[in-house]
Amino acid sequence: MGIFSKELGIDLGTMFTRIAEAGAVILEEPSIVAVDLEAQKMVEIGRAAQNMLGRVDEDHIQVTRVLRHGVVAYYEYTQILLSQLLERIGGGFGFIKLRPKIMITHPYGITSVERRAVHEAALDVGDAQLIPQPLAAALGVDLPIGTPSGNMIVLLGGGCSQAAVIAMHDIVSAETLRLGGLDLDEAIVTYVRRKYGLIIGLPTAEQVKIRIGAAVPQDQELSIDIQGQDQVSGLPKPLTLTTGEIVEAVEDTLDQIFETVRRVLEKTPPELASDIIDRGIALCGGGALLRGMEKLMTQKLGVPTYLVDNPLTCVAEGACRAQDLYKLLQRNLPQF
Ligand SMILES: Nc1ncnc2c1ncn2[C@@H]1O[C@H](COP(=O)(O)OP(=O)(O)OP(=O)(O)O)[C@@H](O)[C@H]1O
Ligand SMILES: [Mg+2]
Repeated sequence: MGIFSKELGIDLGTMFTRIAEAGAVILEEPSIVAVDLEAQKMVEIGRAAQNMLGRVDEDHIQVTRVLRHGVVAYYEYTQILLSQLLERIGGGFGFIKLRPKIMITHPYGITSVERRAVHEAALDVGDAQLIPQPLAAALGVDLPIGTPSGNMIVLLGGGCSQAAVIAMHDIVSAETLRLGGLDLDEAIVTYVRRKYGLIIGLPTAEQVKIRIGAAVPQDQELSIDIQGQDQVSGLPKPLTLTTGEIVEAVEDTLDQIFETVRRVLEKTPPELASDIIDRGIALCGGGALLRGMEKLMTQKLGVPTYLVDNPLTCVAEGACRAQDLYKLLQRNLPQF
C-alpha cells in the first residue's frame, strides 16, 4: 500500500497506544509523555518517557499517562503523542499533512464529551472515524459478528474493563467498568503495605503481577524477591511474595469486574445468551494474560471462557479492518 493511501487502526489505550496497518500492529508505545514544565516543551514520548517514571524531579519534568481509565485526561499531550507516533510511521516528511485514514478506538459507553476529545485529537493527524473498543476487538479476533448469532467479548485493559454482546454488527448489550490492570497493581501495593508495612511502587507491583500473579491458586506456587521501603524507618527491606498472596490481593477487584460481565449477560436476550453459552466468551486485553483468568471467569459465570490468540493487538487490528466495513457499522455507531 502506498504512503498516499495509508489506512490505519489506532487503539489509544491507558497503558499502550497501538497502531495497525493492513491488519497487523506496526507500532506499540506506552501512552506516556514527559514534559519540561518550565519550558513547556515535550521532552520524550512513549517508551523513553516511561523509563523516566519515578526517576526525575517532578517539579521540573512531568511524566504522565495521557489517558486515565481509558479516556483522554490530557488533551494536548494526547494530540502531540498521536502526531509524533504517526510521523514516526511515515518516517517524517510531513506524513500527517497527507491526512491518512484513521479508525481510532474508545471504550464503550463513554460520554459524548469524552468521545469528542478522542475524535478531535485524531482529526488533528488524519481523516479520523471512531469505533468502540469491544466492536474493534470482536473484528480483530474474527468473531462472526455480522450474523444474527450472539457473540460475547470481554476486554480487560489497564484502565478499564469492558464486556459486550454483539450481533449483526451491533452492540446489543454492554458495560464498561473504569477499573483495570492498574487497579490490580494498586491492590497489590495496598496488600503489601497492610501485611508487611512495606511500601512498593506501582511498576514493581505490575512486575510482581506479571511474573508470579494469578487469578486462581496454581498447582505450582511461584515466588519473587523484591525490595520495599519500610513504612516506619524509611529503610529498604527485602521481601518474598508468592502466587497465593497475589491471588488474595487481587480477589476483590476481580470480583467487581465479574459483576460487570454478569450484568451484561443478564441484560442479554435469551436467544443470544444461549449462543454465547455454546460458543463461549472471548477474553482479550492485557489483563486476560493473568494466569488462570479464563478459568476463574468460567467458574464465576458458569459460561465457558477462552483466551483469544491476539489479546493485546486485537483492538488495533480490528480497528484497521473496520475501515472496510465502515458503511455497515456506521448505522449502529454513536453519532455526534
Ligand atoms: N502476563 C500478564 N499478566 C497479568 N497482567 C498483564 C500481563 N501482561 C499485561 N498485563 C496487564 O495488562 C494491562 C495492559 O493491557 P492493555 O495493553 O490491553 O491495556 P490498554 O489497552 O493500554 O488499556 P485500556 O484498554 O484499559 O485503556 C496492564 O495493566 C498490564 O499489567
Ligand atoms: Mg485497551
